[in-house]
Amino acid sequence: MKHLHPIKKALQQIKEKQDIAQSDPHRLHFHIMPPVGLLNDPNGFVFYQGHYHIFYQWNPFATTHGQKYWGHRISSDLVHWEEAPIALAPDEWFDKDGCYSGSAIVHNEKLYIFYTGNVKDHDGNRASYQCLAVSDDGLHFDKKGPVIEVPKGYTAHFRDPKVFSKDGSWFMVIGAQNTQEQGEVVLYSSPDLENWFYRGPLTGAHRNELDNFGYMWECPDLFRIKDQDILIVSPQGLEAKGYKFNNIYQSGYFTGQVDYESPAYQHGSFEELDRGFDFYAPQTTVDESGRRLLFGWMGNAEVGETQHPTAEYGWIHALTLPRTLQWKKGKLFQTPVKELAVLRKNEVVYENITIINQHKQFNQVAGKVFELQITVTDWSTNIFSLTIGESTLRFNQNSSTFTLERKCFNNQGTESRHCHLDKLENIQLFKDTSSLEVFINNGEEVFTSRIFDDTNEQAVSFQADGQVTFNLQKWDLEKIF
Ligand code: FRU
Repeated sequence: MKHLHPIKKALQQIKEKQDIAQSDPHRLHFHIMPPVGLLNDPNGFVFYQGHYHIFYQWNPFATTHGQKYWGHRISSDLVHWEEAPIALAPDEWFDKDGCYSGSAIVHNEKLYIFYTGNVKDHDGNRASYQCLAVSDDGLHFDKKGPVIEVPKGYTAHFRDPKVFSKDGSWFMVIGAQNTQEQGEVVLYSSPDLENWFYRGPLTGAHRNELDNFGYMWECPDLFRIKDQDILIVSPQGLEAKGYKFNNIYQSGYFTGQVDYESPAYQHGSFEELDRGFDFYAPQTTVDESGRRLLFGWMGNAEVGETQHPTAEYGWIHALTLPRTLQWKKGKLFQTPVKELAVLRKNEVVYENITIINQHKQFNQVAGKVFELQITVTDWSTNIFSLTIGESTLRFNQNSSTFTLERKCFNNQGTESRHCHLDKLENIQLFKDTSSLEVFINNGEEVFTSRIFDDTNEQAVSFQADGQVTFNLQKWDLEKIF
């Protein structure tokens, strides 16, 4: 095994370990997972020659973080995904300790991927290179090596290039830590995708704004939607504030206007994208129809990774469902892509259900894997809650709070996440064997979490403290993976 090329070693690992992973009852039915090992960030999300491509950070050899590869899946409908050959392996001097996160862009019929080469010396000192690899079939990638080295004023925590085109020029945003150990996003530009020019910090501590807003900003993504420049970023090191920033690392966005000449970014406050326990490092792309689509990592580094029940079966983490982003009412709304409806089967409909101070279950509304839609038509209660297996969703009108409560991974009690919500209009939720994604009020708020119920758990129940009337639709969902 010692002298095998890293790709061959990874393939051998899959062959030896995938049966064990497949036998895990918590293996998901319709989410992208690693065949074995650890998956983290979505990378290189792109629409190329009629297909969607999604890559992901992958350690084939353990359920801990390590020397990352790029796994690769291809789809024509964002629902069914074919496994493609491993796209990148850490086999060059400039990426020997990991082909870290990055992005993809189409130019002259070719697919260009930009990623961070992570390199460590004998003493554990880190170096990082922004690297290019090019493909003319979307399957095989030719590494061209580093195109950017760390500029003055920044530490080696300089990574996750996201490339985009604007008005005929190429731009790149990179996640950075400055030498005062504060997080920033830095802008580069290029005339040809090969020669890159440092333009300066786009936002962060160097611009005398957002001082002490985290020690490192990972995975930036900058795009325009309607009349807003949205910067998505994942800061590390924010302190929890009430309902906000309760996970170890956060993912959220700023809105405002970018001046690409200076460069500068006039923006508002940082808003979290997802209120659940497991969401990080999202990445977006635009498809043929002009939709802005997003995938996130349905996980978060470090937290609970050692207690994760799937680790016993040699795999850990998954991607979220793909979502469509829209700019409405001054904020980003996220909805599951409409293509997911092809998974639906065995529709169950209940109309105008009223529950008054009671706990209610419905015959056909139960299961381990399903989609549920609830539309509230009349409301005169304070608390409405929905119990799904061992998790609870609860809306409290008096305190304008929506809550998700789940069982802790170590089975010792429960833990919750909350967000402010003025009014509950509807819920669309996707329950997979060991995950829950809850879209509230047409995507105004989202809660994404892994949940590890007792594997026989199938119950769904509704409860109101006063009176609530709603319509209910439920579908079983096809198993894809
Ligand atoms: C985010 C991250 C990125 C890095 C990658 C390594 O989760 O830490 O900043 O490129 O994961 O796997």
